[in-house]
Amino acid sequence: MRQILVTSALPYANGPIHLGHLVEYIQTDIWVRAMKAQGHQVTYVCADDAHGTAIMLKAKDNGVTPEEQIATVKASHEADFAKFLIDFDNYYSTHSEENREFSELIYRRLNGAGHISTRDVEQLYDPEAGLFLADRFVKGECPKCAAKDQYGDNCEVCGTTYNATELKNAYSTLSGAAPILKSSKHYFFDLPEFSEFLSEWTRHEGRLQPAIANKLQEWFDAGLASWDISRDAPYFGFKIPDTPDDEDDKYFYVWLDAPVGYMASFKNLCEQRQGSEQALNFDDYWLAENQHKTEVYHFIGKDIVYFHALFWPAMLAGSEFRTPSGVFAHGFLMVNGEKMSKSRGTFIKAETFNEHLNPEYLRYYFASKLTDKVEDINLDLEDFMQKVNSDMVGKVVNIASRSAGFIVKKYDGMLSQQCAEPELVADIVRTGDEIATAYENREFSQAMRLIMQCADKANEYIDSKKPWALAKEEGSEQEVQDVCSVAINIFRQLMVYLAPVLPELTNNAKEFLNIDELSFASRHELLLGHQINKFKPLMQRIEQSQIDAMIEASKESLEKTDDKADDKKASTSTSNKTKPIEQTEHTESPATAFIGIEDFAKVEMTVAKVLACNHVEGADKLLQFTLDVGEDKPRNVFSGIRKFYEPEQLQDKKVICVTNLAPRKMKFGISEGMILSSGDPKTGLVVITLPDEAVVGDRLG
Ligand code: MSP
Ligand code: ZN
Repeated sequence: MRQILVTSALPYANGPIHLGHLVEYIQTDIWVRAMKAQGHQVTYVCADDAHGTAIMLKAKDNGVTPEEQIATVKASHEADFAKFLIDFDNYYSTHSEENREFSELIYRRLNGAGHISTRDVEQLYDPEAGLFLADRFVKGECPKCAAKDQYGDNCEVCGTTYNATELKNAYSTLSGAAPILKSSKHYFFDLPEFSEFLSEWTRHEGRLQPAIANKLQEWFDAGLASWDISRDAPYFGFKIPDTPDDEDDKYFYVWLDAPVGYMASFKNLCEQRQGSEQALNFDDYWLAENQHKTEVYHFIGKDIVYFHALFWPAMLAGSEFRTPSGVFAHGFLMVNGEKMSKSRGTFIKAETFNEHLNPEYLRYYFASKLTDKVEDINLDLEDFMQKVNSDMVGKVVNIASRSAGFIVKKYDGMLSQQCAEPELVADIVRTGDEIATAYENREFSQAMRLIMQCADKANEYIDSKKPWALAKEEGSEQEVQDVCSVAINIFRQLMVYLAPVLPELTNNAKEFLNIDELSFASRHELLLGHQINKFKPLMQRIEQSQIDAMIEASKESLEKTDDKADDKKASTSTSNKTKPIEQTEHTESPATAFIGIEDFAKVEMTVAKVLACNHVEGADKLLQFTLDVGEDKPRNVFSGIRKFYEPEQLQDKKVICVTNLAPRKMKFGISEGMILSSGDPKTGLVVITLPDEAVVGDRLG
């Protein structure tokens, strides 16, 4: 029996869980359940990532203390995870005593071994808000093309990257004040000292996916830089210990204590279980000398590889702790082939999904898509409905529903004493070994394919025997019972195979089958002369209307374009432009915050006249507009409505244009505004038009 500790990345405590997050928690949960079902001792821990500037500011916005903010969010995260059947052994918080202790301990050991140094860093500072400004809190004019309202790291119009200090007429997005340059002492972790160790560590067979190991090699070749691990007050986090008296304002950067949260959550679980039958020994899992006794795996998204495959193992190795046995990265979620979008209604929160659809649908669909690769996964809503309906309802559940009736009605629920089709059943049992291996290798899509092949065989068998016809024939009683008993036995094997993915459905099936376990080994014992219970429908078909309603409920009328990534910048001492793997800027913030009327009032809606409207070569979704918005020059605007309009239909029409949206660089040119329309981007969008009398340049609102 292997002893395995598994983690998923800790979600930030500043927004709700959405379907993107769920890719990860569902992937991890399936793996954990599958490994448990194979008899291993597996422990799955997680926590909220509760520290950092973003959370501090969010609390301020909401008028609560950071502690209140993180408590509310944690409760909502836990409720969401429970609905999606994510079965953590412990869900904790990085804002905990255990985490403080381990963070300090690791820091002290690193410091004691000479891996920490200090240096003055000059940074932009908001004199009004009294804060040092991360890049995403500074805006100004691009030093290259002079585009206005560009963020502190790169220009969305011309694509240049630069330092925030190079922006012209910079202002703080927090207070609007002009930032000043201010110097302060920062603490650095000496990552380069670990270069050799890391390049060895990352190449270890099976520890990282090949694509990740290759990417890391590029970073090694470019040279690692030391890592800035401190932030100045005000900050919500842990104070750095042992600093001189005049430096009482230094905090650990959130990414220093976040991964330590894995240890802290596990430690907390060890304390809870002390003295119980399920007692766990912390040292077995985390001391360097026990590295080979137990296994530790981290499941993460591709955007946070840098932290988990470089900083974290180096921190652990430098402080006498064991390093992870494996770090498994997954790709990002696309919906209908595109990034999740609030305006399209595809930025779907866990809670919203659950209000309209059964969470197990999503678990099955993700399972059918997930592999051991780092590729993005696409939730195509039409394919989703079709696949769940045909695989789950049409194939799997159908096996039970078409055979249970006969057994219950005609044979008082009793299955045959003998197996009438031993070879078929043995074949399905044997496939279980391949399915178990696929699960273990995180090849869930392969596992689902194998399971559906088994279901196909069962249905073909039933179709060929036609128990419904036999039941009408004199003297076929035994055969009807035998055929249906074979079907029920295969159904039971399928429930074993699907249990990691569909814990609730398979649990209900246990009642119907009158059995009490679904471990992988249990499938070897056939149900002969065994009494089953009345069959109740195990899963309903998905209706299009449910999906439509979910999309509608997820729609936000105005596209937010200025949300930037959370604290994910691997800030390093030199201006290290090597970016983590496709370091993802969430252009859509995971947090859905209400906006006040003041914010809404900032949106400039201007009456515009369509001077020209044209198709765009190579873009099957876009129309290009030349709009008179009452300025001295017309504006160029792209709109994704090509599917619903011919250009002539909109020529000379009066429309509404959002005129103070930051210009957006698109593949086909720069879009200088947004045309308002309503409806569903999949089935039909209607451009809002105004009567001819409307005056170009007038502001609405
Ligand atoms: N707090 C950090 C992780 C700290 S771990 C010591 C963080 N939080 S997060 O809330 O932004 O993301 C949590 C996990 O969800 C990450 O692994 C991230 O990659 C994953 N995902 C967030 N959005 C996602 C998609 N749209 N698609 C797939 N995974 C996504 O990062
Ligand atoms: Zn520019």
